[in-house]
Amino acid sequence: MAIAADLLGDSESGALTKPAGTSSANRKNKISLACPPRNATAAAMQPLIATCGARLRSPRLLGSATAARRSNASAFAFAYALTHHKTQRRCASDASRRPLRMAVIGSGPAGFYTAYRVMAKTAARVDMYEALPVPFGLVRFGVAPDHPEVKNCQEKFEEVAQSPDFCFVGNMAVGDASSNRAAHNPHGGHVPLAALARHYDAVVFAYGASRDRKLGVPGEDLGGVYAARDFVGWYNGLPGSGGDSSRIVADLARADSDTAVVIGQGNVALDVARMLLEHVDVLRKTDMSEEALEALSRSHVTRVHVVGRRGPMQAAFTIKEVRELMKLPGVGLHGFDQATLLPPKLKDLPRAQRRLMEVVVKGSMTPLKEARKSWSLDFCLAPKQFSASDAAGDRVATATFEKTRLTDPFDSNAQVEHTGELVDVPAQLVFRSIGYRSKALADFDDLGIPFDDRRGLILNDGLGRVLRDVRSPDASMTTQPYPGFYCAGWVKRGPTGVIASTMEDAFTTADAIVGDWQSQAHFLAGSEEARAGWDGVRAEVDTAGAKVVSWADWQKIDRVEMDRGQQLGKPRSKFTRTEDMLAVLG
Ligand SMILES: Cc1cc2nc3c(=O)[nH]c(=O)nc-3n(C[C@H](O)[C@H](O)[C@H](O)COP(=O)(O)OP(=O)(O)OC[C@H]3O[C@@H](n4cnc5c(N)ncnc54)[C@H](O)[C@@H]3O)c2cc1C
Ligand SMILES: NC(=O)c1ccc[n+]([C@@H]2O[C@H](COP(=O)([O-])OP(=O)(O)OC[C@H]3O[C@@H](n4cnc5c(N)ncnc54)[C@H](OP(=O)(O)O)[C@@H]3O)[C@@H](O)[C@H]2O)c1
Repeated sequence: MAIAADLLGDSESGALTKPAGTSSANRKNKISLACPPRNATAAAMQPLIATCGARLRSPRLLGSATAARRSNASAFAFAYALTHHKTQRRCASDASRRPLRMAVIGSGPAGFYTAYRVMAKTAARVDMYEALPVPFGLVRFGVAPDHPEVKNCQEKFEEVAQSPDFCFVGNMAVGDASSNRAAHNPHGGHVPLAALARHYDAVVFAYGASRDRKLGVPGEDLGGVYAARDFVGWYNGLPGSGGDSSRIVADLARADSDTAVVIGQGNVALDVARMLLEHVDVLRKTDMSEEALEALSRSHVTRVHVVGRRGPMQAAFTIKEVRELMKLPGVGLHGFDQATLLPPKLKDLPRAQRRLMEVVVKGSMTPLKEARKSWSLDFCLAPKQFSASDAAGDRVATATFEKTRLTDPFDSNAQVEHTGELVDVPAQLVFRSIGYRSKALADFDDLGIPFDDRRGLILNDGLGRVLRDVRSPDASMTTQPYPGFYCAGWVKRGPTGVIASTMEDAFTTADAIVGDWQSQAHFLAGSEEARAGWDGVRAEVDTAGAKVVSWADWQKIDRVEMDRGQQLGKPRSKFTRTEDMLAVLG
């Protein structure tokens, strides 16, 4: 558990306690750790060693370090033992095989935790392909700016990237150029999946969920109706998010835009509500984009409805996130029909559910009559349509819902029954927050990689091995693992789960890869010849028009963003256009 907390950079673990944005000294230590200077003195190495000891808690690892200390080895040897212990252990267990050559597609938590675990358990060289010039996926572009502690996992990812066996291939999408177009990234490169298949033993799909789900109701395309994914991407500075961002800027500033409806009751919906309700001066101290801060400072939204088709007992949000909303200064909560939606005795509920319901029932710290803004959890309303008024033109003015009835209001798996009764909620802004969605890479069909469009995930065996249908000699079809192809994270199990569960999921995939490698299972191309990895891909694919971003390049961008942030009194000021990110590199 302690190690898991350490890997997540969990501030409560006491292991990596620095808030995001204060890590440059730390980062220097890590670079030195990967390659301690030859002339380092024991005294000079002490802080470094202490950092290592706190961070790398494996008893076996510390055992090796202790042995080095007992044998009166120099500080250099001690730090070296810490760094290279895993390599020595790996070589012993994998003596029969050359290092595994692995490509990871995507640099979010799934990609990094898979790389980390595989490299820790077997001799492996990992190239990580990322469509954007900057790493970390939703940790950078999804996690709310006022949750900096969640981003501490980046420190673990940076440690992974320091390994000489790791290579970051940034600004390089795998598949067609659609992700470059989506990110307005004219200088982004792309390589076909087939090229990776030729130059690696294993390819891991960890490219997350870069689309959003639609409701499929009339009026969804009216002005003022946004996907939460676009709004979240916009306030987090995701290049190209939200299409024309001047629309949301203008919509927030409209004097008549005082009521927003958020559809869905997951944690993303609560993030959206909090950004609309939070005082902008609090957000100014975060890494929220400058454009979003400016727009939110002009926002006229004072009332937010967070609408669910089921009840409180079925809501997807979690206690920490709902409690944050209850504590927002000057923000009140409207009540709901507790008598029909909650069991009479909350104390009989399982502990976690009881605590969550108690927070919902207790409500906001600010009474409504004293509140400058307010919000509500509106239950049992299924979205039916959005309509404009004559005055609003092609902009949304009303969200219409159908009242629902639950098969059993107190059962967390209760299903929805429709009543036919309609309810209108006036709204000038609507955010659809019903989940993200993965899509197949363009060349999946060519390679016969099956994608489940309905669930938005790559078919896999639950352990991360991609599955495909294979015709047996007797002409019947069987589903079998596709040798060498693996998946992890949101593209493996669908767009749910926090970073901790994504880490667990990535570890499961990594363990399957290592197990297959050590048991001499079939991998891509099936040959024992060494694979050339990125060098082989680059030699065969024309990437001339693209600027490939290395880890050192990302570190330059990172430093400039933090310097810009310092001048504004915030941890970081992100570049929101890929051109500006690449301009840092000259
Ligand atoms: C709005 C939001 C807020 C969240 N907040 C929290 C939180 O506070 N705490 C928490 O624990 N969890 C949070 N989560 C959940 C967490 O972000 C996810 O569990 C996690 O990021 C999923 O990791 P992933 O690696 O599967 O996908 P991602 O993080 O999406 O990473 C995928 C990466 O692949 C890249 N990519 C995509 N296509 C390609 C391609 N063709 N070629 C190369 N690269 C590609 C993407 O650019 C991206 O960098 C949040 C999620 C969302 C949506
Ligand atoms: N702070 C954090 O830790 C944090 C922050 C953000 C996100 N995350 C995590 O990221 C993951 C994704 O979050 P998410 O909020 O996008 O997804 P989510 O947790 O799956 O919630 C989706 C919500 O949309 C509703 N919904 C789905 N389809 C609908 C439809 N057709 N009509 C009406 N409502 C519909 C769902 O209701 P039903 O239940 O009725 O289907 C549910 O309330 C989650 O695991 C979440 O915990 C964590």
